[in-house]
This record gives sequence, C-alpha cells and structure tokens, in this order.
Amino acid sequence: MTVQRIGVVGLGAMGAGIAQVAIEAGFDVVGREVSGELGDAAAARIGHFLTRKVEKGQQTEEERDAAVARLETTTELDALADCDLVIEAIVEELDAKRALFTELERLCRADAVLATNTSALSVTEIAAATASPERVVGMHFFNPAPLMPLVEVVRAELSADGPVATALAVVEQLGKVAVPCHDTPGFVVNRVLIPLLNDCVRVLDEARVSPESLDAAMANGAGWPMGPCTLLDLVGIDVHVHASEALYEKLREPRMAAPPRLVAMRNAGLYGRKSGRGFYAYG
Ligand SMILES: NC(=O)c1ccc[n+]([C@@H]2O[C@H](COP(=O)([O-])OP(=O)(O)OC[C@H]3O[C@@H](n4cnc5c(N)ncnc54)[C@H](O)[C@@H]3O)[C@@H](O)[C@H]2O)c1
Repeated sequence: MTVQRIGVVGLGAMGAGIAQVAIEAGFDVVGREVSGELGDAAAARIGHFLTRKVEKGQQTEEERDAAVARLETTTELDALADCDLVIEAIVEELDAKRALFTELERLCRADAVLATNTSALSVTEIAAATASPERVVGMHFFNPAPLMPLVEVVRAELSADGPVATALAVVEQLGKVAVPCHDTPGFVVNRVLIPLLNDCVRVLDEARVSPESLDAAMANGAGWPMGPCTLLDLVGIDVHVHASEALYEKLREPRMAAPPRLVAMRNAGLYGRKSGRGFYAYG
C-alpha cells in the first residue's frame, strides 16, 4: 500500500519527533493530542526545530514552510479516519494503548496500517485488542526521532506481510534505517542495551570508580561514542528504570532489574539532563 497520509497519536517527545520527520519527508501528517494547547505546543516545537535547520543552512525557508503546511493538529481521533498509516506514541500503558487501538480500528479505513511506538510493551497484546491484528505492527523509533537513524519494525504474532512491508517502506522513505524483528521483550536494541547499562552502574559501585572514570573507560577502552553515565543522563534515568522494570517483569533475568542506585536516583528526581541533575549536573 502506498502511504501519503500519516496519523500520529500523542505529540509528546516521540510523537512530535516522528511527526517532524514525516512532514520533512513529504508525508501529510495529522497529529492528535488530548488538548488544543498540547497540540499547539507540539506544532510550535516542530516549527522551532525546522527554523533552526534553516538558520544552520540545512534547509531553505520554502522547504520549512512547505513542511509546516503538511502538519495538521487535532484533538479529534476521527480526524485520522482517512490516514493510510497511524503511528501511536501515547503514554506507555497497556490499557491506554489497547483502548486506543480498539478506537482506531473502528474509525480507520480497513486497509490502514496501525503501528505502535511502544518500547517495552508487547505489540501482540496491543494488537489483540482489535479484531484485525494482522494490520498491527510495531514501529519503534529512538529518541530523539529526528536525529536517531534506527527504526525497529516489529512483526507481532499475527501481523500480516503487507502491513510489515508498508512499515518498512515508510521507514525507508523517512530516510531512516529499518531493522525488521519479531515481537520479543526489548526488541533488539533495548534487549542488549538495558542490561548492559545496568551492569555499568553496578560496576560503578563494585569497582569503586567515579562516573567520569567509568565513562572514560568505556569511551577509550571499548570505543563507545559516549560513556554509560552520560548516555543514561541523556536517555533519562526515569525512562531507563521504567524500561528495566518492564523487561525484568517479562524475562525475570536479574541483569534486567534496575540497580538500587538508579532506582534511588529516579525516586529523588535525578533524571539526568531533563531535570538538570543525574550522574552529572547540567547548567
Ligand atoms: N522517550 C523515549 O526515549 C522513547 C523512545 C522510544 C519509544 N518511546 C515510546 O513512545 C511512547 C511515547 O513516549 P514519550 O516519551 O513521547 O511520552 P510523552 O509523555 O512525552 O508523550 C506522551 C503523549 O501522549 C499523550 N497521552 C497521554 N495519555 C494519553 C491517552 N490515554 N490517550 C491519548 N493520548 C495520551 C500525552 O498528551 C503526551 O503528549 C511510549 O510508548 C514510549 O514507550 C519512548
């Protein structure tokens, strides 16, 4: 199926980034938020990022204006009725996502592909809330979506070939790198990265090294582009602990569980960059 019109539900950190990437690639986008204020704020954020690209000489004013004109925001789910593909990026809660997919199935065209951007929930369980699970897939973008090249295209238990192929084609049109995979906890990257980062934090205490030293060790000894403490501050300690808990619940592997030090940081509001303090302080 050829996709021209993409619906994005939830214009938070991920949804707004996905909407931005899609309008820049020439798709028409309908972004749905729960209130007009949130929709306006997301559209303003996207406009701001595109203007920055003009200032940096990465695109022309005409290109920016044409991209912005392709974005429409709404509070009505019904406005997604004629979308070819809908990408869900709402809160990471199974019940909320299942309720939304039931609604999307009711109001979208029968041939529309329904995708979830969930990080740690089962795409199969979300799809099971619909009577047409064959058209449900995962499209797992990474944060920040405009900058991170990878999108994991997740085949759920009952996904049909057509919708998976459509999602793969859209990722290519977005100029991103698609990695197709099956619906397993953490998919590919988080399945590897979450326990690895948890190990790194355990090593902080076991080897009694500072965050600076651990980051220097992994950057200079393992070739990491940034050290694990810097990466955790960037991802958000709260986001990482939440993903660890979700993976531990599913896999019961001790390495998946967030180390107490990270849980304490999360509880204290030391989320990293976004809160101004994590392993490091940000001005
Ligand atoms: N933040 C990340 O690093 C990251 C990376 C990849 C995937 N994800 C996934 O993307 C999804 C969104 O994450 P985010 O970080 O953008 O969250 P966010 O909190 O920034 O945004 C969530 C948005 O959904 C809306 N929303 C909340 N509850 C809703 C409901 N019941 N119905 C409809 N809309 C609702 C909110 O208004 C908000 O704009 C989650 O499934 C998350 O796991 C997040």
